Amino acid sequence: MNKLYLGGIIFTALMLLLTYLSVGGSKGGLNDDIVNTLAITGAVALVIITVFVVIKYVRQMQVDSASGELADENWDGIGEYKNSVPTGWAVMFLLTMVWGMWYFTIGYPVNAYSQIGEYNEDVAAHNTKFKAQYKEITGDRLVEMGESVFLAECKVCHGINADGIDGKAANLNRRIDAASVKHVLEKGSNNKLIGMEMPMPDRNGLFNTNSGALITDAEIDVISAYVANGMSGDGADIFAGACSMCHGADGMGMEFVAPNIATFTPALVSTVLTHGKKGSIGVMPKFDRLNDKQKEAVGAYITSISK
Ligand code: HEC
Ligand code: HEC
Repeated sequence: MNKLYLGGIIFTALMLLLTYLSVGGSKGGLNDDIVNTLAITGAVALVIITVFVVIKYVRQMQVDSASGELADENWDGIGEYKNSVPTGWAVMFLLTMVWGMWYFTIGYPVNAYSQIGEYNEDVAAHNTKFKAQYKEITGDRLVEMGESVFLAECKVCHGINADGIDGKAANLNRRIDAASVKHVLEKGSNNKLIGMEMPMPDRNGLFNTNSGALITDAEIDVISAYVANGMSGDGADIFAGACSMCHGADGMGMEFVAPNIATFTPALVSTVLTHGKKGSIGVMPKFDRLNDKQKEAVGAYITSISK
């Protein structure tokens, strides 16, 4: 037999063996799955056809001599035959382009089944059901629901008692600690705490109207302790002069102006969960996977445990 054919057969056998070893023998391979079997059969056919077409042309190259009409161009004695593009080939090429466009716009990738799509649909359906079922929950039951959300989602960072695990995250048993207030007064804050972009000015934008001057380091220390103390102790006068125009006389905040820094409210916690937060302690991730009711519930829970 011709050496070329022998080589082709050996190569084909080798490819078949490799294909079998890589997928055929595995679980979920040839025997279990019709789609796999079809794909493998196709691959095998392609290998065989390719090998024998190549052999045909290699043989032809060995015996063929060139013929045909030469083009006018000539590069140092090397000429080129006039070969127009075969019509069949050109048509195939154009059709492939059309098919490619179809494939990428309305074909497989866009309109195919996807696990992520199914997951999203399931979540949406579940949320609709959940919303209807839990719409009426208020009061103590809302707090209980919030506690279970807290234990599932938040205790890894905030600790089982919400004390922040020695400063790993915010201690949620009180609204804010002095170091965090000080950090905000020095650096400003831009965490969408009132639900929209409304940054807190840094120390270069904080006037104490009592003294008519920018806030001082000493005043920052006093006011930080005052806020962290639940708006009590020394500093009420500085607060009135420098903060109350935005945060309100009692620190309870004003809608669209400044957040409540005296107490947690469900709305404030929801906002933190929606936008996340970055502060002196670290980064609080946002929680897109909680729905509005769950955010409200965990907010009610935190409001109930904090002073
Ligand atoms: C011009 C209005 C304005 C003034 C004056 C102002 N604040 Fe604020 N403050 C804001 C806004 C707005 C935010 C919310 C910023 C954000 O979204 O991160 C904020 C946020 C804060 C926070 C962050 C709360 C948190 O949970 O991290 C603290 C603490 C705070 N302010 C304390 C003060 C104190 C103390 C003063 C007085 C020295 C003061 N602010 C003066 C507008 C103001
Ligand atoms: C990956 C850790 C992590 C997880 C999980 C986490 N937090 Fe936080 N959280 C933080 C950190 C860190 C801060 C402090 C941010 C700062 O520096 O002010 C924080 C701050 C907060 C604050 C204070 C915001 C303020 O304005 O003072 C609230 C409220 C809060 N988290 C609620 C939650 C709730 C509710 C959950 C669960 C749904 C949760 N966190 C899950 C890390 C986390």
